Amino acid sequence: MLIEAVNIHKLYPGPLHVLKGVDLTIDAGEVVAIVGPSGAGKSTLLHILGGLDVPKEGQVMFNGQDLYGLSDIKRAQARNTDMGFVFQSYHLLPELTALENVILPAMIKENSGKTSKLEFAGLKLLEQLGLEARSSHRPNQLSGGEQQRVAIARALMNGPKVVFCDEPTGNLDSVSGQVVMNTLLGLNATHGVTVVIVTHDEKIALRTQRVIAMKDGSLELPILSPAMPSK
Ligand SMILES: Nc1ncnc2c1ncn2[C@@H]1O[C@H](COP(=O)(O)OP(=O)(O)OP(=O)(O)O)[C@@H](O)[C@H]1O
Ligand SMILES: [Mg+2]
Repeated sequence: MLIEAVNIHKLYPGPLHVLKGVDLTIDAGEVVAIVGPSGAGKSTLLHILGGLDVPKEGQVMFNGQDLYGLSDIKRAQARNTDMGFVFQSYHLLPELTALENVILPAMIKENSGKTSKLEFAGLKLLEQLGLEARSSHRPNQLSGGEQQRVAIARALMNGPKVVFCDEPTGNLDSVSGQVVMNTLLGLNATHGVTVVIVTHDEKIALRTQRVIAMKDGSLELPILSPAMPSK
């Protein structure tokens, strides 16, 4: 298995108990959707799975390593090489062009400046997401949906083992949303990339292999289909 989260708790001052003992395992090569009402804790859980937010209690094993037992530098390295993250609010760097934003993780990984090899790879990703004509635009010259797709290209740049996506199609029309989904599912099929998607969009959830429902800081038990044979 690629990710094993055990007894994850998260509290905010108040105290607000936003994750209440979440247990979750995700196998390498799975495509999983996380659904649930606003405020259920989906983004918080995704950030914790992706090494971005320290849980109050519990453990996340990633690829056999205790993610929060690693030093900050080692955890950042694991994120840079093995994980892509698409945030609910894109987090692009405003002073960089679309292409520069996309290749930034590779520049960090290779400890290099812009190279034509990285630019070529970045342009290919932008093209896959229908943005080849926008590569030199800065984020404030892009629509919300275009920024979202740049963020997705950036998440894919280092060939991650897993891509965490927080509402990746939330700002897209349904055609662009399906392009994004096709890109993610294509990477899953060709390279076995694990995909974890938080979504409110039923059409997106229906294209995944497993849907995990969250409510009020906990996972809900899977709902068995009535057509499923009972044992
Ligand atoms: N930094 C913070 N400080 C205090 N409370 C927070 C913080 N971040 C999130 N929360 C609270 O934690 C709860 C879970 O937030 P989270 O962002 O995980 O929800 P979500 O399921 O992703 O919702 P949405 O579908 O609206 O994105 C919410 O009630 C939110 O108000
Ligand atoms: Mg959220």
